[in-house]
Amino acid sequence: MGKVRCVGAASAILMGALLGALLLGGCAPKAATPSGPVEPVAKVTWENTIGPLLSQRCGGCHGSSGGLSLTTYEGALKGGRRGPAIQPGKGEESLLVRALRGTEPGLRRMPANQPPLSDEEIALISGWIDAGAPK
Ligand code: HEC
Repeated sequence: MGKVRCVGAASAILMGALLGALLLGGCAPKAATPSGPVEPVAKVTWENTIGPLLSQRCGGCHGSSGGLSLTTYEGALKGGRRGPAIQPGKGEESLLVRALRGTEPGLRRMPANQPPLSDEEIALISGWIDAGAPK
């Protein structure tokens, strides 16, 4: 385990000259580096992002009253009349994304009768499916 003891130095130096100067004295394993921006690398999941978004924008019509349900993860995976709404790994090919973009033949752009989701929101959903649609 001794080999990793200096591993923090490179990234800490990137955090700025102030911290870099602190580290010049050596690379003590417990270098005091409490500050610095925390990168927003949180993984997008159904529970932290996608579920709340779809419940809010789609749940009024796609609740639990039969047909496609978008208020639960299982419901979204199962889909409705046309089959699974989500194919993990294939964002743009998934029915959910085609519905959001209005590219599914014979289906109105979703949410029906409401303003479409923003490109950013659709890209977020598509990317989440590409990443395997983690719950
Ligand atoms: C105002 C009501 C309404 C809202 C809000 C709505 N939908 Fe729909 N949706 C419908 C209706 C009605 C159908 C069935 C239309 C059809 O099959 O031709 C449908 C069908 C679908 C289907 C096809 C289901 C299947 O398997 O046949 C998908 C996918 C879908 N909606 C996605 C969404 C998404 C995603 C949202 C939220 C962004 C959403 N809808 C919001 C009314 C709505």
